[in-house]
Amino acid sequence: MHKQLLLKRRHFLIGLGALTGMGTFTTASQLRHLNLLDSDISADPSVALAAEAIALRASARTKGLLFGAAVNYNNLSSDQAYANLVAQQCGILVPANELKWQALRPSPSQFNFTRADWMAQFARRNGMLFRGHTLVWHNGLPNWFAKTVNKQNAEKFLREHISRVAGHYAGQMHSWDVVNEAIDPRGQRGDMLRNTPWLRFLGPDYIDLAFRMAAEADPRAILTYNDFGIEHDTPQAETKRAAVLRLLERLKSRGTPIQALGIQAHLFGHPDGVNFTQIRRFLRNVADLGLEIMITELDVNDQQLPRDPALRDRAVANVYADFLEVVLDQPAVTAVITWGISDRYTWLSSTKPRKDGAGLRPLPFDAQLKPKPAWQSLTSAIAQAPTRPSQPGLPTPTTFADIQGHWAQRYIQALADKNIISGFPDGTFKPNAPVTRAEFAAIVTKAFPKASQNNASIEFVDVSRSFWGYSAIQTAVRRGFLVGYPGRIFQPSQQIPRVQVIVALASGLNLSSDNTSVLSYYQDATQIPTYAMNKVAAATQRQMVVNYPTVRQLNPNRNATRAEVAAFIYQALVDADQAQSINSPYLVQV
Ligand code: G3I
Repeated sequence: MHKQLLLKRRHFLIGLGALTGMGTFTTASQLRHLNLLDSDISADPSVALAAEAIALRASARTKGLLFGAAVNYNNLSSDQAYANLVAQQCGILVPANELKWQALRPSPSQFNFTRADWMAQFARRNGMLFRGHTLVWHNGLPNWFAKTVNKQNAEKFLREHISRVAGHYAGQMHSWDVVNEAIDPRGQRGDMLRNTPWLRFLGPDYIDLAFRMAAEADPRAILTYNDFGIEHDTPQAETKRAAVLRLLERLKSRGTPIQALGIQAHLFGHPDGVNFTQIRRFLRNVADLGLEIMITELDVNDQQLPRDPALRDRAVANVYADFLEVVLDQPAVTAVITWGISDRYTWLSSTKPRKDGAGLRPLPFDAQLKPKPAWQSLTSAIAQAPTRPSQPGLPTPTTFADIQGHWAQRYIQALADKNIISGFPDGTFKPNAPVTRAEFAAIVTKAFPKASQNNASIEFVDVSRSFWGYSAIQTAVRRGFLVGYPGRIFQPSQQIPRVQVIVALASGLNLSSDNTSVLSYYQDATQIPTYAMNKVAAATQRQMVVNYPTVRQLNPNRNATRAEVAAFIYQALVDADQAQSINSPYLVQV
């Protein structure tokens, strides 16, 4: 159910003929004071959403980036809706606890991979990469560790652990956090190495040793040093950044097989806002060592922020946006991984609860699995990030279980292979499902990323900045593919009729034709709205119209299906010389 706008507004219930975007302008600041509540992106949380419209994994992949999350076995295996969200949104999965010593080692002589194996299979089944956390840490250790491991046997235990665990997943792991949180500026040492059992038993060389053991066990995994508290503009973070950089320089200078730095990014919000300027130089220095950089545990602690959820969500979203703008500007940053994905399950609840008892809201999706402003920040930051060279090992687009033999199968598969559309967590595409105007905006924006933005941007009264489709709608309108209705209304959740799709594509490609006599080809030409005749004629002449099942039946006012949108978009790409023609009996050729 759409939440009501706070401000009464006239509904312009108009026919298709009024596709003009003009009307009294409402400035962005007025919108903010309108305090518009977001239109839900789905009336029913169990309804799978058109992944290409909101999947962070898909938008990240188009930039050669990885988006994913760290989650717990208990939540992933018992909460189906949550598991669907993880599969829909994440291109990489990290067990938050299941690959730590405490979870893997019930006793000094036993290894138990059951839960981590289940998570590895979940990742495989959903076309996700798998990431290991963590082989060497001073926390997450089993109870027997302290009374069993000592200076004499520590190397044996370390070697056996890394060889068994990294060996068990060899070839399956995108990357490992080999050593976690080894720097502690509060310590007395010049190198600021944390006083851990590993340091006490093996000396500072334990770090190099761990990386060499991991490289031996799994030569293909990206071996990572992971740490926290190196993100904000604070003196403590600046001190820690310098110590981490010195550690990385030492490791690289001695030939340690390390390929990446993991920046945990457990950020915190502050009523006065926070800055991320100093990290920019640090990222450049790390990249200059030839290291990849991954954001490995992103979330925003909102303890110090106001209780009001809407205000807190916006402040958290601003921290996501400010941090990601800086880090994604550095091409060496190749992955963004959040620590959890929904406020339904966050480690902060048990460790850093708010004094007022309000639920914490640190993640991109709320406890009802709905996208929040922080999700919009992630989407926008990824959209604006420079494209990376594609990453080896990214899962290739899968074929969809429910399009085999479908009339639009080749159109759908071709667009999926181009990362323009994607399917649902259950591996289907749902070809006969309708498409909303917001979803169409997301697809057409991906299909024509280089189209020039000549039109003015428009702030629609029913599309607030935190709406998941805000940036796609803005882009589609500026590129001339879509217009709104009078009164600055967009109707993002309205199912888009076939004729609107045809008009949108012809408009975006600047096609027009006065020769509307070609429309007589359609047996139902009289149903074509007057406003659309010129554009439909142009699209018809440019072979952009596909009519199933009867090629001479246009059905202009019937809502378009996902399959039909795929066919129309594909034919528009053919017209723009960006795709090879597909010979189809349903293609209108006049
Ligand atoms: O699984 C056992 C359960 O069998 C037992 O009954 C219960 C009783 O204490 O403990 C359960 O293990 C807990 C585990 O989380 C799984 O829920 C541990 O006690 C608890 O200490 C552990 O906390 C984790 C913490 O790391 C320490 O390992 C948090 O969930 C996890 O979010 C947190 O994650 C860390 C990263 O690994 C490193 N970076 C910081 C980040 C946040 O602290």
